[in-house]
Amino acid sequence: MAEQIEIPRSFPGAGDVAGKRVVITGASRGLGRLLAHAFSHAGARVALVAREEKDLKEVGDELPGPTLVLSGDVTDEEFNEAVADGAVAEWGGLDVWIANAGISPIVAGPLETDPSVWRAVLDVNLTGAFLGARAAARVMGEGGRIIFTGSVLGERPREGLAAYSASKAGLVGLAKGLALDLAPAGITVNVVAPGWFDSPLAQHWKNSPKLAAGVLDHTAQRRWGDATDLAGAYQFLASDAASFITGTVLNVDGGYLLV
Ligand SMILES: NC(=O)c1ccc[n+]([C@@H]2O[C@H](COP(=O)([O-])OP(=O)(O)OC[C@H]3O[C@@H](n4cnc5c(N)ncnc54)[C@H](OP(=O)(O)O)[C@@H]3O)[C@@H](O)[C@H]2O)c1
Repeated sequence: MAEQIEIPRSFPGAGDVAGKRVVITGASRGLGRLLAHAFSHAGARVALVAREEKDLKEVGDELPGPTLVLSGDVTDEEFNEAVADGAVAEWGGLDVWIANAGISPIVAGPLETDPSVWRAVLDVNLTGAFLGARAAARVMGEGGRIIFTGSVLGERPREGLAAYSASKAGLVGLAKGLALDLAPAGITVNVVAPGWFDSPLAQHWKNSPKLAAGVLDHTAQRRWGDATDLAGAYQFLASDAASFITGTVLNVDGGYLLV
């Protein structure tokens, strides 16, 4: 008989995040708030990050598990370092950093896009993720997980969103580069790329019959993402079952990239 793989006594649970210490940026509303609920319900300890402290406290009050509220701007290097230190001071370590804060302030072509808007989008969506990953990597040990919220628009843009699409495409390159750099430390770096979800950020599309129809036309499943559709991807990548997955993009888009 050919030599066989030795079967382990047990397998890590895919998506099991119980006891994990998790930072979630952009946690005060939309997808970040959704992720905070999902991780907290699954037994993780979560640190909620955004600029508005009042909104974060409201989210914290909704959650079943232990919560840390840390308000500040992800474009601020010192703030990111303080979040990492705050998680370690509270929990003795940090397992997962989800860089999810993002903005999409314009729907306009390049001539209507003021360079200051371009810079702001890159600053929050891309530089903010880098600064977060940098702070996380300093305090994380073996088994650390960094997850960026990308977007299908990084791979397949729509009109008027060049800055946003560039920032999200940039996250893929950033994740791949950091995956290489941080592999020796046992830290994985991946991107979850959502398709269309009904959040405050997406209201411009949701409220325009033309744009909303375009979303459905370009989504194979002909629907927007539901509240239960997204968090599983993050929980899988955060769990011990995903320790050999790094530098990848996991699209959660109902087939947006197929149509
Ligand atoms: N909704 C979708 O369909 C969709 C699809 C693909 C990807 N995404 C991505 O998913 C992520 C979340 O989007 P969303 O739809 O949940 O948007 P959202 O509802 O507008 O929430 C954005 C979050 O980011 C925070 N934030 C913004 N700028 C920040 C900064 N400089 N520093 C710290 N926190 C900041 C906001 O809180 P404060 O304003 O209080 O800081 C808020 O908590 C973004 O990266 C977005 O690009 C969304």
